[in-house]
Amino acid sequence: MPVAIRAQHLRKVYPKSPPGVAALDDLTLEIPTGRVYGLIGRNGAGKTTFVRIAATQLEPTAGEVTVLGYNVHGQEREIRPRIACVPQESRPLYFLNVEEVVYLYLKLRGLDAAEAHRRTRDVLDELSLTEYRRRSVSRLSGGLRRRAMCAMVLASDADVLFLDEPTTGLDPIARREVWEAIRRASREHRTIILTTHYLDEAEALSTRLALVERGRVMLEGAPADLRARVRYPYRVVIQGSYPREDLDPLGQVSVIEGGYLIFAREAEAREIARRALERGVRVSLGPVSLEDIFLDVVGRSIEEEAPSEDGGTEAEA
Ligand SMILES: Nc1ncnc2c1ncn2[C@@H]1O[C@H](COP(=O)(O)OP(=O)(O)OP(=O)(O)O)[C@@H](O)[C@H]1O
Ligand SMILES: [Mg+2]
Repeated sequence: MPVAIRAQHLRKVYPKSPPGVAALDDLTLEIPTGRVYGLIGRNGAGKTTFVRIAATQLEPTAGEVTVLGYNVHGQEREIRPRIACVPQESRPLYFLNVEEVVYLYLKLRGLDAAEAHRRTRDVLDELSLTEYRRRSVSRLSGGLRRRAMCAMVLASDADVLFLDEPTTGLDPIARREVWEAIRRASREHRTIILTTHYLDEAEALSTRLALVERGRVMLEGAPADLRARVRYPYRVVIQGSYPREDLDPLGQVSVIEGGYLIFAREAEAREIARRALERGVRVSLGPVSLEDIFLDVVGRSIEEEAPSEDGGTEAEA
């Protein structure tokens, strides 16, 4: 499959950051053309830094990134007309109304007036913004302003769309409208880089995704394939009383309201379910969710990062 974005050994150290602290640390990634690619990871992992470098807004410290075959270092002029970006923090021009802000954005990107009008009308309809079209952006609620920003980018003719947490602060209905617009853009063979903390959203939309942790890619692949790469691909929930010591050897057990949650391999998960049914205890078994995978992989990374009890790095003041 053709590659839209290729990042190799990417490193970013912000000026004034503490010595040895890199926002991106040897990040290597290939994003295929014409699909939705999800970027997930905890706060500060480096997702926005990667997006800003690929969108030619920030210079890397080392490494190389190409977008549609053009190098972000030196070929920005080729890249910029072909991309559009919903930044993590954004405020569309306040003195315009919703319709104007979308229309002018499309005009500035070089669309002719008729096409810009048509796309503006369609996207306002798509994101249920038509009733607000004459309202000044300065008088919009936070979620509506975010939707206006998404409208601008999703209506554009760019080949690559960077959406950095586009649905943060959106109500559940508006979120799903943005999902549909993202799917529509993907059907138009555009490449979408979607950063999100909503793992259901990442799973619902992404063809592939990368879990970024401390500036590196910890896990990468199609959502369904990621399950095969974790220690325990199955989750079992037991509701009712059950001897804990029988569960412990079979997987990773935690106590939940009214029972246990156990992460286990397939054979052990089936065994737990069989025994629970024999005892007449309620049990459910299924594959782990993306959230389970996230908590497992990132949880282990946090454990590794934590200074040991006796060897703490913080000096007492
Ligand atoms: N302008 C900046 N100057 C200095 N350090 C920065 C700057 N922007 C980000 N950082 C640091 O770089 C690291 C990565 O930040 P980044 O914004 O890329 O994370 P993120 O994955 O997008 O997080 P979030 O989920 O909170 O948006 C963090 O340690 C952050 O503090
Ligand atoms: Mg971010």
